[in-house]
Amino acid sequence: MTALLARGVRRTFEAELAPVRALRGVDLRVDPGEFAALMGPSGCGKSTLLNIFAGLDRADEGEVVVDGLVVSGRDENWLARFRRHHVGIVFQFFNLLEGVSALDNIALPAILGGMRRRAAESRARDLLDLLGLGDRTEQVPSVLSGGQRQRLAIARALVNEPAVLLADEPTGALDSEGGAEILELFRRLHGEGQTILMVTHSADVAAGASRVVRMRDGRIDGDDEAVRSASVPAADAFVTEDQAT
Ligand SMILES: Nc1ncnc2c1ncn2[C@@H]1O[C@H](COP(=O)(O)OP(=O)(O)OP(=O)(O)O)[C@@H](O)[C@H]1O
Ligand SMILES: [Mg+2]
Repeated sequence: MTALLARGVRRTFEAELAPVRALRGVDLRVDPGEFAALMGPSGCGKSTLLNIFAGLDRADEGEVVVDGLVVSGRDENWLARFRRHHVGIVFQFFNLLEGVSALDNIALPAILGGMRRRAAESRARDLLDLLGLGDRTEQVPSVLSGGQRQRLAIARALVNEPAVLLADEPTGALDSEGGAEILELFRRLHGEGQTILMVTHSADVAAGASRVVRMRDGRIDGDDEAVRSASVPAADAFVTEDQAT
């Protein structure tokens, strides 16, 4: 099954002067277990592509498949359930709930995903331990360092056991030490089988991934696995199930 697939994906944003063609026909396939880094100049469409895989935005044209589910053409309700169960999303600036404990920052999305509170808290504790934040459960995000906040955001993204972890410049707001720590964590998760697509501007960070995909002007411009992305048999990419949960 295919973890991520984009075929002929286009996305244009209306703007005051002229429409911005952010994605101009993207073909990309990422298989389960891969750790792919997505690079390219500012404005080339990296975040737009990631947001479409995350179900935060919709393609205007083309096919999008995530975790074997056809995501393109879905309504907002379907996408909301999809986001909760199939993808974990990490941003540059953490997007944590301020004023809420580290434990609850992780447990709440699990509870929203249908887990009972006790199970959710127990899973949150396990994740905090795993990510080296076991002694921070009751602290609020504002007292944590940037690296700790990002680890918390990653724990939150993992709580519902997503098929794919999608990260948009997860080391972008961190110093080099914090960035190295996050990269090390991603490498460990990848070693345990987690599929990851990570946008980064840093060649050093990208070098830690198992594959580097480059974008330019709304298209894929270079890819270690270009042949594989170009040859996706439809039957291999899709499952027949059409419910996100
Ligand atoms: N919501 C939006 N409305 C209008 N234009 C947008 C919107 N989102 C993105 N764009 C435009 O689409 C293009 C691609 O943006 P995108 O954020 O995907 O780039 P990026 O590769 O992630 O860049 P960066 O490295 O700076 O984060 C840019 O020209 C951007 O200005
Ligand atoms: Mg971006």
